[in-house]
Amino acid sequence: MKQFPEDFIWGSATSAYQIEGAHAKDGKGPSIWDSFVTIPNRVQDGHTGDMAIDHYHLYKEDIALMKKQGYQAYRFSIAWPRVLPEGKGKVNEVGIEFYNNLIDELLANDIEPWVTLYHWDLPLALQKEEDGWLKPQISDYFSDYARLCYERFGDRVKHWITFNEPWVISILGYGNGYYAPGRKSNTEPYLVGHHILLSHAKAVKVYKEEFADQNGTIGITNNCDWREPLTDKPEDKEAAERALQFFLAWFSDPIYKGDYPQVMKDRLGERLPEFTSKEKEMLLGSSDFFGLNHYTTMYAADAHGDAKDDIKGNGGISEDQDVALSNDPSWPKTSMDWAVVPWGCRKLIEWITERYDAPPIYITENGFAINDKEENGIVDDSETRLTYYKGYIEACHEAIQNGVNLKGYFAWSLFDNFEWALGYGKRFGLNYVNYETFERIPKESAKWFAKVIEKNAV
Ligand code: GAL
Repeated sequence: MKQFPEDFIWGSATSAYQIEGAHAKDGKGPSIWDSFVTIPNRVQDGHTGDMAIDHYHLYKEDIALMKKQGYQAYRFSIAWPRVLPEGKGKVNEVGIEFYNNLIDELLANDIEPWVTLYHWDLPLALQKEEDGWLKPQISDYFSDYARLCYERFGDRVKHWITFNEPWVISILGYGNGYYAPGRKSNTEPYLVGHHILLSHAKAVKVYKEEFADQNGTIGITNNCDWREPLTDKPEDKEAAERALQFFLAWFSDPIYKGDYPQVMKDRLGERLPEFTSKEKEMLLGSSDFFGLNHYTTMYAADAHGDAKDDIKGNGGISEDQDVALSNDPSWPKTSMDWAVVPWGCRKLIEWITERYDAPPIYITENGFAINDKEENGIVDDSETRLTYYKGYIEACHEAIQNGVNLKGYFAWSLFDNFEWALGYGKRFGLNYVNYETFERIPKESAKWFAKVIEKNAV
């Protein structure tokens, strides 16, 4: 038995567009994802989040299921256009009421809400009229939206996450165009990333200055894979380090060190915007905890000026980093083609611990996609997803033994759901969803995870 610290928090995570449905109901405005899914060939099989898993109507049943499985915390996101249909201005009270009900129901069941303010569903009006994340004024709209959320929900919500995965918003939204708003550029991602960081810092400032009496915590969630040097050669070790800095330190250095990593400044020149000294001050220390989404690992080698833009390999804008990524053929793969490498998780949180002086870390997502099938009322993922979770949670335990200040773990995802450009084809859920009846069926991994939570051990 590997016992976790007494105050360790176990939860699971979802996001609004992936589960809520009711995309145009009760006054909700459209988001960039509502629009993106209507463009032919952007989402596999033309799937949309219009209905998703209908959590908007089934949230009470969903919370009852969470309660049964013993969750202590639930990470979900607020759909900005559900509370502010045009992104600013008029408030949609029916949308506010939905989140009030959700939060109240969670608390009545002793489940702590962890709320993400932005999980990719920008109000479409802000994209069309204001150029979304490309323009600096977005930070005012975002911090006004954040203020509204603290005002309306902050008496009960004590854990806030400003952004989910700035890297994905920047690179997949503006680098390769794989996600909404679907733009392709090698300049825009750095501009977008810059405006996200400033929006984050502003929203945190509002929280700390105007809502200190709410006594909550606020942070940001970044995503990163581990990059293992392909060989012992110094150039490959450097390449792996460079890849981590372009992936994660891009967003975490400004918060923990006050500026972008030097290697990004050197390689990007004018394409990387600069922070003013006031902005640096606002960013420094603007996260109470280190939120991390982690799934997989790749080998990294120096590409000697020949890196291809292999965005599918999650490399970022590869020419800028000059890193060649590869997988070990012996590593098992998820159906996203992501390698299963538990020690990569340990190494990554040790790297964060070392680079940023042991901040409190929460793994806010970790999980495994496989196209589970229901047979005779059972969904058996014990050889796949369950094995993955076991390996990664054991790796987390080892990291804690090694001095990592890991405070909590949220599995991705509570349910099968809309997996962005891949539609409903890829299942990440601990609970199976039958898309015809909307019935939820706990998979073997969910039953196993419930025992981990109960024993606080793996
Ligand atoms: C993350 C994202 C989630 C989910 C997951 C699995 O990047 O935050 O919304 O899609 O990946 O792909």
